[in-house]
Amino acid sequence: MTENGLQSQLRGFGIDVGGSGIKGALVDLNTGQFIGERIRIATPKPATPDAVADVIAEITHRFEWDGPVGITLPSVIQQQTAKTAANIDKSWIGTNVPDLFTHHLPGQEITVVNDADAAGIAELHFGAAKDVEGLIVLLTFGTGIGSAVLYNGILVPNTEFGHFELDGMDAEAYASAAVRKREDLSWSEWAARVSTMLRGMEKFFWPELIIAGGGISRRYEKWMPDLDIRTPIVPTELRNQAGIVGAAYAAANGIRP
Ligand code: BGC
Repeated sequence: MTENGLQSQLRGFGIDVGGSGIKGALVDLNTGQFIGERIRIATPKPATPDAVADVIAEITHRFEWDGPVGITLPSVIQQQTAKTAANIDKSWIGTNVPDLFTHHLPGQEITVVNDADAAGIAELHFGAAKDVEGLIVLLTFGTGIGSAVLYNGILVPNTEFGHFELDGMDAEAYASAAVRKREDLSWSEWAARVSTMLRGMEKFFWPELIIAGGGISRRYEKWMPDLDIRTPIVPTELRNQAGIVGAAYAAANGIRP
C-alpha cells in the first residue's frame, strides 16, 4: 500500500459548511478526534456553490490533503445532489457536488452529506449513539434545526424535522437557537418552545433517545432540565466537531446518500 493509501485509511478529512463559517480538520478515524487544529474561514456572501467550493479548496490545500474529502451542507442530499437550500444560497439546489469539485479539487474524491446526518454518523461511531440499540433522533439547534434518524447503527438520511409545521410556521422558525437569540428568549421560554416542537415530533416517532447538538448543546444544563417531553434526551458528545468528523467518516467509508 502506498503511503497515501495508508494515510487515507487511518486519517480522514472533513469540512463543515455553516451559515457563518466553513470549517475543516483532519480526523483520526479510529477515535473520531481531530488531528491538530481546525481551520475556519468565514462563509462567503453570497454563499454560491463556486464561492463555497473555492473556500473548501483553500482549506483542503492548507492541510496539503489529497485524499477523500467529506463535506456537509445544510441541504437534503440525494445522489450527491443538493435538493434544498434552507440556510445557504438557493443556487445550490440541483448542484451535483462531486461534479462541482471537478474544477476546484480535480482528481479528489468528494462525498457530500446533510450536516445533521453527518453529526448523526459521528455520534453513531464515536459518541452518544455508539452501541445504543433502537431508534434514536439527533437534532441540531443552530441557525436552523437539523435532524438525523438512527436505527440500530444505521442512518436513515434526509429527515427534515426542522420543517415540521407548528402553528403554521416551520419548527425551526419557532425554536432554533438563532430564534432564541433573535427574540431574546430566556432559557426556560426557549425550552418551552423546544418542548412544543419535540412533543409534536413524539406524536409521529417513538425514539428511545434524543441527542441534542449544535452550539447550544454546550450549555445543555441551562435548558435540558426544563424540557417537558416523553423521550430521554442527552447532549451530543462530539459537540461542534460532529459535522466534520461525520463527513470525514462518510467520505472514508463510502457512505453516500
Ligand atoms: C435544513 C436542513 C439542515 C438544518 C441544519 C435546515 O434548515 O433544511 O437540511 O440540516 O437546517 O443546518
